[in-house]
Amino acid sequence: MLGVGNVGGGTFDVLKRNQEEIRRRAGRGIEVVAVSARNTERAKQRTGGEVTVVADPFAIVDDPSIDIVVELIGGYDTARELVLRAIANGKHVVTANKALLAVHGNEIFKAAQDKGVMVAFEAAVAGGIPIIKALREGLTANRIEWLAGIINGTTNFILSEMRDKGLDFDTVLKQAQALGYAEADPTFDIEGVDAAHKVTIMSAIAFGIPMQFSKAHVEGITRLEAIDIRYAEQLGYRIKLLGIAKRAKVNGVEGIELRVHPTLIPAKRLIANVEGAMNAVLVQGDAIGATLYYGKGAGAEPTASAVIADLVDITRLATADPEHRVPHLAFQPDELADIAI
Ligand code: HSE
Repeated sequence: MLGVGNVGGGTFDVLKRNQEEIRRRAGRGIEVVAVSARNTERAKQRTGGEVTVVADPFAIVDDPSIDIVVELIGGYDTARELVLRAIANGKHVVTANKALLAVHGNEIFKAAQDKGVMVAFEAAVAGGIPIIKALREGLTANRIEWLAGIINGTTNFILSEMRDKGLDFDTVLKQAQALGYAEADPTFDIEGVDAAHKVTIMSAIAFGIPMQFSKAHVEGITRLEAIDIRYAEQLGYRIKLLGIAKRAKVNGVEGIELRVHPTLIPAKRLIANVEGAMNAVLVQGDAIGATLYYGKGAGAEPTASAVIADLVDITRLATADPEHRVPHLAFQPDELADIAI
């Protein structure tokens, strides 16, 4: 495990607490054997002295006795290097790093495919909600028409608290940081970048297009004021920051629209009533119609729940012929393959 912060600590705790259930479900035990952390003393305390603690994450990705690397350090460059090296060394990877996948995902998935290893990332989108599994497996029979979600807990928490308690933006942002919801750089949350990372990842699974983060329209909540929220309320609406991916035709060109922006939603809709740091994703499929997925989108144990689900999946599937595993992405060799608009 690379990084033992909020999510890493939660993963360690849940793996230990539910050890027996997880063993039964995975068909074998899952054990954290080594962690890397900048502050090795704190990591030793956090992991109860039961695992090897190292300062250098490359020592873990280069260790031939390790089967799966869980990347929880975040950020773009070092994480990319570590994940590519783990793949080159034949290890499976679990990552919660949405920024990494939205920007370098195409390269990473190609490397994993060539090497025959798995890269699992349920924790990268909507925390504990199994939305990747739902899109890739549960809805696999459907042509997805669109998806729209509240996929950033920090901004939803800010909008909820501003509306309910009349608190100002900065006060609530500080609370979200203290609760461990916000990114290391909270501008990613409030400017919509984090939601755009997540919608980019979901669009790749739902529509079979490569990750095209640079094409997403990204607008956050920093220009919203208390008066906007009050006016919306008076008119019977709630303001939510939505990440949207939908089939569209622009100037005769068919493609997938990717966008993140504050949206007015009629107050009686279910998704308008998703409050606090909760997340929700609506998916419209041609066979199933509309479906709604709701749950905790951030925090230590909800995210750990997704990390461990990926570990169990890998444990079950790693021995399968790569061609018979659930594919990472569903790239389609059709005219949509490259188009995000
Ligand atoms: N900063 C993110 C959020 C964390 O607020 O939703 C979970 O991805």
